[in-house]
Amino acid sequence: MIGFGPISKLAKSGVLGMNSRNLDFIAAYNPRRFYPLVDDKVITKKLAIEAGVTVPELYGVIRYGGEMHLLEKIAEKHRSFVVKPANGSGGGGIMVFNGVAKTGLRRMNGQIMLWSDIRYHLNNMLSGMFSMGDGSDQVMIEERLVPHSAFSKLAFGGVPDVRVIVFRGIPVMAMLRLPTAESDGKANLHQGGIGAGIDLVTGVTTRGVQHNDSVDVHPDFETPVRDFQVPSWDEILELASRLGHHIGLGYVGVDIVICEHKGPTLLELNARPGIAIQTANLRGLRPLLVPIHKLPSVSEDVHERIEIAHANWNGESLERFLAPGEEMRRH
Ligand SMILES: Nc1ncnc2c1ncn2[C@@H]1O[C@H](COP(=O)(O)OP(=O)(O)O)[C@@H](O)[C@H]1O
Ligand SMILES: [Mg+2]
Repeated sequence: MIGFGPISKLAKSGVLGMNSRNLDFIAAYNPRRFYPLVDDKVITKKLAIEAGVTVPELYGVIRYGGEMHLLEKIAEKHRSFVVKPANGSGGGGIMVFNGVAKTGLRRMNGQIMLWSDIRYHLNNMLSGMFSMGDGSDQVMIEERLVPHSAFSKLAFGGVPDVRVIVFRGIPVMAMLRLPTAESDGKANLHQGGIGAGIDLVTGVTTRGVQHNDSVDVHPDFETPVRDFQVPSWDEILELASRLGHHIGLGYVGVDIVICEHKGPTLLELNARPGIAIQTANLRGLRPLLVPIHKLPSVSEDVHERIEIAHANWNGESLERFLAPGEEMRRH
């Protein structure tokens, strides 16, 4: 996946390939027993609340067909919400509704989806059609997040998010993902969304890529994608660090939406985050991971972990963060 265009010259300078990601970092730092904690979004939500992190409110869970009537009750009460498979990935099965009609629910594009079609879709979700693993699944009904107004000229028809890679509770790299008309409201890079690298210290975007080519402006608005200050940047880093530290997964992708009403809000966690974030930042992950790997222990204090993150991003030595009597690991 790497090795094309501008990134190819980075191949020798620390770009993390899929094999190394899997072997050195995921296998070594992510015990398998933790996977369900991030693969099941209902469990992730509970953990996030424990860690003091904001999440979209869970309105209800449908576990089998007989509970389908819950949807109509919730729709009546909340009107605007999202349905998603608890073990879903890549946006599969997710539907966003923003209104209720007699005949069904209103989707973001204004169309009404009929109750019979909705029930059919939810049954497919329950059967596991959109889910990781091979069993059945649950349907979550949750609050619809509204993108921060700063994104009005940068996100087309959907919710942008910030992906932060967190290693041992320390943020190491981040990217802003912007939906485009082409990506149909999803911020997913494979769907044609834009990935913008972010300066980890300031929260300002540095460059954009779409389909692995550099882009200077958002194609739907002509708004520049670089030099954009991501709102609430310090809070975003703190959320990512707190949660990464709390869940016991060493290497994790934390996806955060900056909601107009709730501020930085956790969307989901990923135990196998993609490596395209390196293309968006034109920077390899390996040189950022190795110094953190060499720390014999990591602070319990989130503010110290953020200081480490800043120093690491600036390429400074992490020696000053050693506890008294500690030495850097050799390997
Ligand atoms: N609560 C929500 N409010 C608004 N949009 C949402 C919400 N949950 C999901 N979405 C939309 O669906 C996409 C995928 O959701 P996510 O929870 O990350 O599931 P997946 O694991 O399938 O990627 C998000 O990037 C966003 O565009
Ligand atoms: Mg996602």
